[in-house]
Amino acid sequence: MLSIKLLKVESRKLKREILFTSDTVQQRVREMAGEITADYEGEEPILIGVLNGVIFFFADLVRSIAIPTKIDFIRASSYGSGTVSKGEISLTKDVEIQVEGEHVIIVEDIVDTGLTLNRIVDHLEEKGAKSCRICALIDKSERRKKEVSVDYCGFKLEGGFVVGYGLDYGERYRYLSDICVLK
Ligand code: IMP
Repeated sequence: MLSIKLLKVESRKLKREILFTSDTVQQRVREMAGEITADYEGEEPILIGVLNGVIFFFADLVRSIAIPTKIDFIRASSYGSGTVSKGEISLTKDVEIQVEGEHVIIVEDIVDTGLTLNRIVDHLEEKGAKSCRICALIDKSERRKKEVSVDYCGFKLEGGFVVGYGLDYGERYRYLSDICVLK
């Protein structure tokens, strides 16, 4: 786990602390892309982004991977507008690309309870994916309910609620370039 340097940022509207600066995030994303490039040399994996939080991470990751890839998106609903999972996962948008017989990498912003990724992995395996790996920007362990094996992990956190770089709190803060802890 990278050492975390907290920088205090305050404004009239928001109270948050920077956890990972934009530069740190970008560097880590490039490293993750390098790992995927090496592991899938000679293949053309399908990267499936879990909407909406993954958008910036997905765009940066895909463009840093140096082998051909295909992309699609899936959406799952669990959290509503707060910080606590409702525990029931429904898939509200399915992939449209053919995944049967293909190597799939699920790209997620953050793993918390693990319920969302478990549901998505089961779904893609049912559709006949040849292999199914997980790439998550943040692996948050505190509230894990279902075991998830994260093959490519950007940062590990024990807890806290983080926003920015696509991550939201009630649809706010996604636009931030840094990843921040909400206070
Ligand atoms: P899980 O099913 O509990 O693993 O939840 C995964 C989803 O919860 C992520 O895709 C996020 O949308 C959301 N989530 C979990 N923790 C956070 C957080 O700290 N900030 C923002 N979203 C979060």
